[in-house]
Amino acid sequence: MNVLGIETSCDETSAAVVAGDAAAARVASCVILSQDVHRVYRGVVPELASRAHLTALAPVVDRALGDAGVALEDLDLIAVTEGPGLIGALLVGVSYAKGLALGTGRPLVGVHHLEAHLFGTALDDPAAVPPFVGLIVSGGHSLLLDVPAWGSYRLLGETRDDAVGEAFDKVGTLLGLGYPGGPVVERAAREGDPARFRFPRPMLHAHQRPGDSDYFDLSMSGLKTAVIHAVRASKDPAADTVHLARGFQDAVIEVLVTKTVRAVEACGRPRVVLGGGVACNRALREAMAAALREHGATLHAPSPRLSTDNAAMIARAGLFHASEAGRTLDAAARLPFPGLVRA
Ligand code: KG4
Ligand code: ZN
Repeated sequence: MNVLGIETSCDETSAAVVAGDAAAARVASCVILSQDVHRVYRGVVPELASRAHLTALAPVVDRALGDAGVALEDLDLIAVTEGPGLIGALLVGVSYAKGLALGTGRPLVGVHHLEAHLFGTALDDPAAVPPFVGLIVSGGHSLLLDVPAWGSYRLLGETRDDAVGEAFDKVGTLLGLGYPGGPVVERAAREGDPARFRFPRPMLHAHQRPGDSDYFDLSMSGLKTAVIHAVRASKDPAADTVHLARGFQDAVIEVLVTKTVRAVEACGRPRVVLGGGVACNRALREAMAAALREHGATLHAPSPRLSTDNAAMIARAGLFHASEAGRTLDAAARLPFPGLVRA
């Protein structure tokens, strides 16, 4: 099987070819064009994203096919991100994919972006297969899932307000470090003193028990407000920047690690699969791996390239769904995605 994946849900225009069967799929090519225009506005501007996808998508697809040495007629399947995402941006990818499917006569499968993040890690690490606990932390979403098998997802917890990546982005802007905030906050935090600022650990309390509604859920907005207050109260915000970044990042990591360990214990899973842009954070990976080791579980995290938005994970998820008889493009547009139930 040669699967062409197309991803245009936010500010990355990406196309990839994944080859092989579902059990042994490999990335034959993956082209990711990160739209730079949004830096100026310190956030993604939807209309600009749509327009940039429109001009970039055709050459990005051509390049992905060329890199893989695959012609259009060698394709067996086309997979496209159907949602969630910016509606105009999604429309560009879906329309392009529909046209390509019609022109080539190849089947088209719609993929849910968040389900695809779970599949992405397996492209780097063949051991990242169910059963596992999945933690998807990106700019738009934060989900903690129990995944007993591909196609079957139990939502354990999610953020009640900001996504984790969004909190990094807002703190990055607040501290004057730039956008996107994740990489710059992480870099600054390395220089920071962990004892200078201790921020609250939102939705984390020793008295919480399984079954409590906040046992797995996350919240970031109060932490963000605490950072704002600390910046205002600082006598020397410039000198405090690295310490504030460290205090913020430590709080986020402690919450994510504790909630993930809770999920591993509650579900009895031997491994954790991390996905989404925040999975790039090395301090998070190290703290998570160490905590899981103590609980007899292993961490499986994708390379930075496959952590952030990319079409290889879309193609891989499409490969899985290709075997489902009767799946239509609209099946993936439902939210929550097919197979997902609230635990
Ligand atoms: O998955 P992704 O590429 O796009 C979405 O689907 O949102 O995630 C982007 C997010 C941004 O908020 C960015 O700040 C964050 O991932 N991010 C990081 C790091 N690298 C990217 N957050 C923390 N630490 C990082 N090193
Ligand atoms: Zn994403």
